[in-house]
Amino acid sequence: MKILITGGAGFIGSHVVRRFVSNYPTYEIYNLDALTYAGNLENLRDVENRPNYNFVKGDIVDEEFIKDLFEKHTFDGVIHLAAESHVDRSITDPLAFVRTNIIGTVNLLNAFRDLWKDNFDEKRFYHVSTDEVYGSLGADGLFTETTAYDPNSPYSASKASSDHFVRAYGETYGLPYVMSNCSNNYGPNHFPEKLIPLFINNIIENKPLPVYGDGKYTRDWLFVEDHARAIDMVFHKGKNHETYNIGGFNEWQNIDLVKLLCDIMDRKLGRTPGSSQELITYVKDRPGHDLRYAIDADKINKELGWEPSVTFEQGLEKTIDWFLANEKWLNNVTSGEYQEYYDKMYS
Ligand code: NAD
Ligand code: TYD
Repeated sequence: MKILITGGAGFIGSHVVRRFVSNYPTYEIYNLDALTYAGNLENLRDVENRPNYNFVKGDIVDEEFIKDLFEKHTFDGVIHLAAESHVDRSITDPLAFVRTNIIGTVNLLNAFRDLWKDNFDEKRFYHVSTDEVYGSLGADGLFTETTAYDPNSPYSASKASSDHFVRAYGETYGLPYVMSNCSNNYGPNHFPEKLIPLFINNIIENKPLPVYGDGKYTRDWLFVEDHARAIDMVFHKGKNHETYNIGGFNEWQNIDLVKLLCDIMDRKLGRTPGSSQELITYVKDRPGHDLRYAIDADKINKELGWEPSVTFEQGLEKTIDWFLANEKWLNNVTSGEYQEYYDKMYS
């Protein structure tokens, strides 16, 4: 099996690449990544010399490049994770999200449709998506696989669009696809623009913790390795043309999560209990901010036997320990361009 993994140098992609390279030594894994600000080959240092791992630098939007790649390789499957992934960046630059998330996905769909057109047997296009396509929940209810799409941010609109294209290629051309829509991930290698790693970094540096609005927004958090395991199961055992919702059964209001994070960080850093909470600063809200996300992961649980393997407290401890032990990684990704981003967003 020759498998293409797109976005494999990013946060979730690197955990998926590591899992596939390690668990399936007979598969040839090709990691295709443009190495944007979010892509980092440091995330894969431990597997980069494995004989079944290959890295290809390239942009999924570049039609000619994709054509050349597909002339060289006959892939049997793809796990497509490459994307622009941060809501706040999508508010300042929506077109970047249209390019990668929509045009890039359609480019890949065309390439696989043309490559496999004579025989779809044993082939698989796996599109990795987000629960944000379903929009926002009120105080009650959960997102199921049949919840109507109702995206509110340019990020979620671009992911929703790519999901529709994947379905359409399944219906129109018979392309064998599976898809999953997952809740918020956290864990090692998470880029410090998202809530948890940003706040870990700010606590280390004694900088303000910018909580948007009243902090009462709710997210359903899943440890990244549990997502990678779910992706493995859906890739191997999921039914063609089906969607699986993946979630942590783990809802937290932002402010409660931030307080928990502060308390664990105080303990780990040997600081006075309560000192990190003093860094909490309420700031202007994100426009179009979705109130609540929560996943009903019953289908993947019943059909494929998946469930999260760690509690939130265990996952957070592992995550914080990783960040504290990988100061160099954190310093590298927060230098240069990151500072400009940070000043633009938070000054
Ligand atoms: P990320 O931003 O950390 O990584 C994205 C990767 O894609 C980076 O390595 C980047 O270099 C690469 N990339 C970006 N544009 C590219 C292009 N044009 N061509 C080739 N490579 C390109 O993202 P992530 O958080 O790891 O998310 C991965 C996927 O999972 C995304 O599709 C995202 O929508 C989805 N997802 C993320 C979460 C989450 O909580 N982070 C939750 C559910 C679903
Ligand atoms: P984020 O990690 O950006 O994920 P998403 O927007 O995809 O859910 O944000 C998680 C929650 O934390 C969301 O409600 C926005 C909030 N948030 C803040 O309050 N402050 C911040 O600086 C960031 C980045 C997010």
